[in-house]
Amino acid sequence: MSSLREAPFKVGGIVEPPYFVNRERELEELAQALRGLSQNYLLLAPRRYGKSSLLHNLKLRLEAEDNLIVPYVNCREIAGYTDFYRITVGAVLQEYERKRKVAGLWKRFQVVFQERILRAARRLEELGGSLREVGQVYLRFREEEVDERALVRATFRFFRDITQEQGLRLVLLLDEFQEVATFNSYLFNVLKKEMDLPSAVRYVFSGSSMGLLSEIFLREQAPLYLMVGKYTMEPLAEEEVVAFVRERFRNAGMTLPKEAAKELHRRCGGIPFYVQKLGLIAFHHALWQRSRTVSPQDIQRAYETMLDELDGEFEVRWLARFSPLQRMILKALASLGEARLRDLAQHIGRKPSDISSSISRLKEMMILQKRTNGTYALVDPVFAAWLARSDAQSRE
Ligand SMILES: Nc1ncnc2c1ncn2[C@@H]1O[C@H](COP(=O)(O)OP(=O)(O)OP(=O)(O)O)[C@@H](O)[C@H]1O
Ligand SMILES: [Mg+2]
Repeated sequence: MSSLREAPFKVGGIVEPPYFVNRERELEELAQALRGLSQNYLLLAPRRYGKSSLLHNLKLRLEAEDNLIVPYVNCREIAGYTDFYRITVGAVLQEYERKRKVAGLWKRFQVVFQERILRAARRLEELGGSLREVGQVYLRFREEEVDERALVRATFRFFRDITQEQGLRLVLLLDEFQEVATFNSYLFNVLKKEMDLPSAVRYVFSGSSMGLLSEIFLREQAPLYLMVGKYTMEPLAEEEVVAFVRERFRNAGMTLPKEAAKELHRRCGGIPFYVQKLGLIAFHHALWQRSRTVSPQDIQRAYETMLDELDGEFEVRWLARFSPLQRMILKALASLGEARLRDLAQHIGRKPSDISSSISRLKEMMILQKRTNGTYALVDPVFAAWLARSDAQSRE
């Protein structure tokens, strides 16, 4: 009866096994490289490919390693340099506490943000070492003796100091790193200097906007050009998805025949978020119908429901993110499936040169991809299906 208590799928947010499809190769490659501190990484993938979950599971995998701490920071929480200082120093300290089984350091350190200066300074003296150093800079910042940029320098300096002082390796996971791309470039200049120094600190940057991230890492003039190994995540492979969803249904006391599982994979293009969402909807339908077997037709019906459920979100994306020309391009591609630049241009009655920069932009946004055969297609097949459907409906 476990089926009624716990849903077989989890939609949204970070997932762990058994809700996490292995990603074994990625995890092992990254874990191996990071254990040896061989390099820094930029993890790139479109929305909802499972970047955050991969980072989380990478952290779990490195848990057993002695003297290695792996703090995770979501850069969406960081709106400026004071946040950067507070949130990253906090994440590092809390991981340190967990690893070394000491308590209260971060709590005691936080006096620098609240207490009167003198009292805070005294508390810092008691803490000593790298904490005193980094804390004192914050107090000087509060006294307006130094500016925000000193906080940035002190933060990176602290990462290096604490590893040396405590005999640690530090791998800092910075998720949604494109969010800090809009800061002025000071942070990146300091980061570059830091990454050039010998140290036991490595970074994994992750994000889903090629445009912003390539401004930081990938263009020749970019501040962190050639400083990171680029790691791109692919959708899940068919056999992985098939095995995963069948096991999930079996666990819930239902049967998902192979053909239906393949249909589910195909509809989702292997994008993990959709795999889970479509699986969950199909599961609920089957529960209502008191059916124990899910057919390919059931998957198709569940898919229609999924498009309905995503309607509001896709609508917002559609209206907020794209220019009129980009919309024309996307609509054309959604109905053509895939097309060469020339055919696409012709389809919307423009010259290829008129649309090529819009196409580049859409590629950078990871909305469009160029296939090996030279055609363009939408990255997200569910969004494409929604577009094709709403286009057809508007013509009815
Ligand atoms: N390896 C996986 N196996 C199964 N499902 C997964 C996996 N990775 C992600 N998912 C599914 O996708 C959802 C989104 O995952 P996650 O938040 O990790 O993606 P993301 O790429 O960080 O997304 P975003 O671009 O929105 O930040 C999860 O809630 C889960 O349903
Ligand atoms: Mg994420």
